[in-house]
Amino acid sequence: MERTFPLVNEKLPRFLHGGDYNPEQWTPEVWQEDMRLMKLANVNVASVGIFSWVSLQPAPDRYEFGWLDTIMDSLAVNGVYAALATPSAAHPAWLSHLHPEVLRVDASGRRHAHGNRVNFCPNSTVYREACADIARRLSERYKDHPALLLWHVSNEYSGYCYCEKCASAFRKWLRARYGSLDELNKRWWTAFWGHTYTDWLQVEPPCDHGERSIPALIVDYSRFGNQSLLDCYLNEARVLRDVTPGVPVTTNMMGTCYTTDYRQWAPHVDVIAWDCYPSLRGDIAWTAFNHDLMYGLKCAPGAPAGQPFLLMEQTPSTQNWQTINALKRPGQMRLWSYLAVAHGSDSVMYFQWRRGRGGCEKLHGAVVEHAGHESTRVFQEVSALGQELALLEDHVLGAAVEARVAIIFDWENWWTLENTSGPIRDKKYCETVFKHYRALWRRNVPAAIVGTDADLSAYSIVIAPMLYMVRRDWAEKVERFVQAGGRFVTTCLSGWVDETDLAYPGGYPGPLRRVTGVWVEETDALFEDQRNRIIMKHPFGPCRGEYVCGRLCDLMHAETATVLATYGEDFYAGWPALTESQFGDGYAYYIGTDPEPDFLLHFCRTLCADAGVPPVLEGPAGVEVRRRSQKDRSFLFILNHSDDVARVNLPDRRYKDMLTGQDVTGTVALPGFDVRIVEEL
Ligand code: GLA
Ligand code: ZN
Repeated sequence: MERTFPLVNEKLPRFLHGGDYNPEQWTPEVWQEDMRLMKLANVNVASVGIFSWVSLQPAPDRYEFGWLDTIMDSLAVNGVYAALATPSAAHPAWLSHLHPEVLRVDASGRRHAHGNRVNFCPNSTVYREACADIARRLSERYKDHPALLLWHVSNEYSGYCYCEKCASAFRKWLRARYGSLDELNKRWWTAFWGHTYTDWLQVEPPCDHGERSIPALIVDYSRFGNQSLLDCYLNEARVLRDVTPGVPVTTNMMGTCYTTDYRQWAPHVDVIAWDCYPSLRGDIAWTAFNHDLMYGLKCAPGAPAGQPFLLMEQTPSTQNWQTINALKRPGQMRLWSYLAVAHGSDSVMYFQWRRGRGGCEKLHGAVVEHAGHESTRVFQEVSALGQELALLEDHVLGAAVEARVAIIFDWENWWTLENTSGPIRDKKYCETVFKHYRALWRRNVPAAIVGTDADLSAYSIVIAPMLYMVRRDWAEKVERFVQAGGRFVTTCLSGWVDETDLAYPGGYPGPLRRVTGVWVEETDALFEDQRNRIIMKHPFGPCRGEYVCGRLCDLMHAETATVLATYGEDFYAGWPALTESQFGDGYAYYIGTDPEPDFLLHFCRTLCADAGVPPVLEGPAGVEVRRRSQKDRSFLFILNHSDDVARVNLPDRRYKDMLTGQDVTGTVALPGFDVRIVEEL
């Protein structure tokens, strides 16, 4: 078999199955029991050392690696590999006490007391040096250890610091970006309210009790803050790569985390890893969206975006930090694990292995509950899943998730939108992107979630919802894409500003005006109880009749575009609401408003039909079907998200059930929450 992507580490040609292991909270007797239980749970990897800094270095000049030696050795003996963490997410109290500058200052200017975690100033030299030191000691000590599989750098980087050190690093960053203060003043439009800077020292980070009136400053602080966190990661990754060049390095991400532009991180991790904590009442499509977002992060030049990732954390049962922490129902943990795998994960991992007896996460679900033994529902489900994943052997590992539709999700655009005052406070950027995704998801049409750096030629359809901030060169890329026969969709609130939040002169959608063939003259924001209507002029495939819309309505002129639908209400009734513009060999669509979900369902159906993009499989409602492809083999994941039996008609060909080895044809009946994985023969 030819794998599409390489294994995370050749040492373990299996699905990674395991999770966060915190032996420093327990005694050696418990460690021994852990090893017995890990074998029973069919666990093959443990993320260890994540919050162990003070246990490894109890004082500035004292190191204690003995306990970790024992753990690493026992893991190896018991066939469990280590995702070995650097402990920098939880620096020791002694470091904060000796050097208060390592502590983070919040946006109200308050330096935080030592506590919690991820509480460091990312620009503190003391912090960075201490991180590099402990990373070097760890890597030198375990570089040849048979258990070492993967480096897990820190834990869930996020948030910004607003201290004096960060302020001065920010000024340096700005100098490098803009060259001169004149240029900065120009790009930030500081003549507004008389904010022109006459000395670099006057530039302060945005803060709650200070500057918040220059959106470009706030957006740049996000860029800088993200870069500062990334520099912390790189500070450690560099050491690890230097000492253990063959061991992959990653850090655990969080899906749509506002403060971290993961696209900029992606080139620096060897494999994307992420922590997935959906609410039981959440929309399962939102989880799917986040998996696809993570899959799409790694973007090699000339190749379609995306690469398999690791599901680094999920709860096996319950969480503790949601308002209501419902239990995953029997079968649901397995179903959601395969959901991750279907969307590109090469692992199923949990937080946490064993519930601690104290601390704020003692009630968070774990493979080993407070009962402490294997006779629990959760343990049995984990163990059974581990056994199943082993049955899949290495067949699916490294297989691609292919998509011919791309949806743009861009962090810098998100930051810019969030910090813009008007035309509506709650921009709902994530929700808007997700709405488009969901319309495709409901029909089992895979969508790649990509950034503006992606090579568009890999796709037949590109959807860029609410792309408020558009770079000129990206608009040119879109023009080339459409010219060559692609289908492009964008929506209201797109193409207003450039990368420093300066409005494009000449009208919206700015550089997208030529390709979309529309000029947006004004945008109406609707009160929550207000609606308008989209009235289709002619049927556009199943998109016909009328649809409800709200929130925002662009008042636009079709310049070179054809009007497909108009508004039904208000003083702009009869104005275009949906347009199509033929541009070269392709088409650009502009949706001027926020439509009801059915509109997008029907609209996307037509779009896909016109572009010749089929669903993986048409299934009944509640059943999701995804494909993962090796170079010469492919696998279907059939996931029944409902708690009722579902019948799925497979197209006429032969399939092999990957878990039973049996041939499958015709109709598959799936009990509620059940999963079928078949190879397409
Ligand atoms: C995050 C962290 C874990 C743990 C879980 C709890 O993902 O990485 O350490 O706190 O949340 O859900
Ligand atoms: Zn700081």
